[in-house]
Amino acid sequence: MTTNRRTFILNSMAATAGLGIASSIPGGLRAAQKMVTPSDQINIALIGCKNMGFGDLKNHLNIPGVKCIGLCDIDQNVLNEKAAEILKDYNQKPKLYGDYRKLLENKDLHAVVIGTPDHWHCLPMVNACEAGLDVYVEKPMANSIEECNLMVKAANRYNRVVQVGQQQRSGAHWNKINQMIKTGHIGTLRKVNIWGNFNYGVGMPVAPDSPVPASVDYDMWLGPAPLRTFNPTRFHGDWRMFWNYGGGLMTDWGVHLIDMALWAKDVTTPPRKILASGANLSFKQNAHETYDTMSVIFEMDDYQITWQHTAGIQNGPWNKPYGMEFIGDLGTIVVDRSGYKVIPQWNEEEKKAKIEAEESNKGGENHQEHARNFIDCVKSRQKPVCTPEIGRAVAVAAHSANIAVRSGENLLLWDEAKGKFSNSEKANQYIVPEYRKPWALPKI
Ligand SMILES: NC(=O)c1ccc[n+]([C@@H]2O[C@H](COP(=O)([O-])OP(=O)(O)OC[C@H]3O[C@@H](n4cnc5c(N)ncnc54)[C@H](O)[C@@H]3O)[C@@H](O)[C@H]2O)c1
Repeated sequence: MTTNRRTFILNSMAATAGLGIASSIPGGLRAAQKMVTPSDQINIALIGCKNMGFGDLKNHLNIPGVKCIGLCDIDQNVLNEKAAEILKDYNQKPKLYGDYRKLLENKDLHAVVIGTPDHWHCLPMVNACEAGLDVYVEKPMANSIEECNLMVKAANRYNRVVQVGQQQRSGAHWNKINQMIKTGHIGTLRKVNIWGNFNYGVGMPVAPDSPVPASVDYDMWLGPAPLRTFNPTRFHGDWRMFWNYGGGLMTDWGVHLIDMALWAKDVTTPPRKILASGANLSFKQNAHETYDTMSVIFEMDDYQITWQHTAGIQNGPWNKPYGMEFIGDLGTIVVDRSGYKVIPQWNEEEKKAKIEAEESNKGGENHQEHARNFIDCVKSRQKPVCTPEIGRAVAVAAHSANIAVRSGENLLLWDEAKGKFSNSEKANQYIVPEYRKPWALPKI
């Protein structure tokens, strides 16, 4: 059964009313009617189709009852290629758009997936919420602290189901180690060490500016970011290493892994003390602004989180290019997406290990489970496993580390009540991005 969006919103309102959640859907749609039933078809669309967004879309389409009715991209070649793939693999013919605002006018939509570069998360997400749609938005939630704030506000103001693409929250082995830590299996957690030494963090070899490809609406790709000449090293996929579009490895992988470190103690607000050092010390022949070398300490209330990246070496502790160590007073858990290992501490007095050694290689990628959780929540109106509040907390942590270095302060103190750094006006200048006209930060 297909419901159009208006009916769906009303259904959603009925469901949320049942949960006692205040509803603030725009457009005066007030009268609650019937409940959403699990058999309702969910019509979705994708904004930003090339890589991760398309993977997300396919994971949604693998769920029975989910249909793609729109694809939006500023690159006509990407649109054509992805539309052909959806037709071939799913026998569906979504409408194609070059401007996401037109897509949001489609009254049959229930939800959108946002797979645009980081500087293009906030506006489509907020506008989708305003249009009464639920949203799956990729991580990091946004490319600045203020955009994250606005996105949390929009999700709550318009009462939408919003899942941030930190899919490890949906992973069975991540859930397992999270429970092990919370139930004291490794004793009291005092430190989490994290590293991510990926090759791609050094960017692509320097290339000259070139004409904008004929299929691309480059002005729309830049959107709120400053006007800049077209260069292939800053475009599809490679924008991550340039401040106006992304935050380098610190935000790209940082949010995935720091998220696990915050979750271990159910922290849902940004760290209060951030000590960071970063620089570009290598790969001078490559195009990148974000730091290739970085060390960060997040001082938490009763534990410490460290982040290290040395981009371009693709290896690290435990012979892993990325990973985490959760250190308690009975043992350590070393974990990455492939699995985990429990390494007991030695009890010298009793001459035996404090806990049992254990190993599992039953990890995996968790995008499919994360999409499933989102769709379940679209139907049930429950909160998904990675709410905007969680997405914000970890994005603010990662952005704070970058800001600590960019501002030259190295040590920053975050005041959550005031929403700014208490020890540096220089650092506070990085909180609110300057949008290029005619784009403007949304008002909620
Ligand atoms: N969850 C994960 O594991 C994971 C993995 C990779 C990437 N990501 C995130 O996914 C997002 C996309 O990353 P990617 O590697 O796929 O980037 P990409 O550059 O390969 O793809 C982005 C697409 O968005 C399109 N686009 C840009 N501006 C647009 C606009 N205004 N309207 C419509 N389309 C627009 C581009 O043309 C391109 O097709 C990023 O936020 C990234 O951090 C998440």
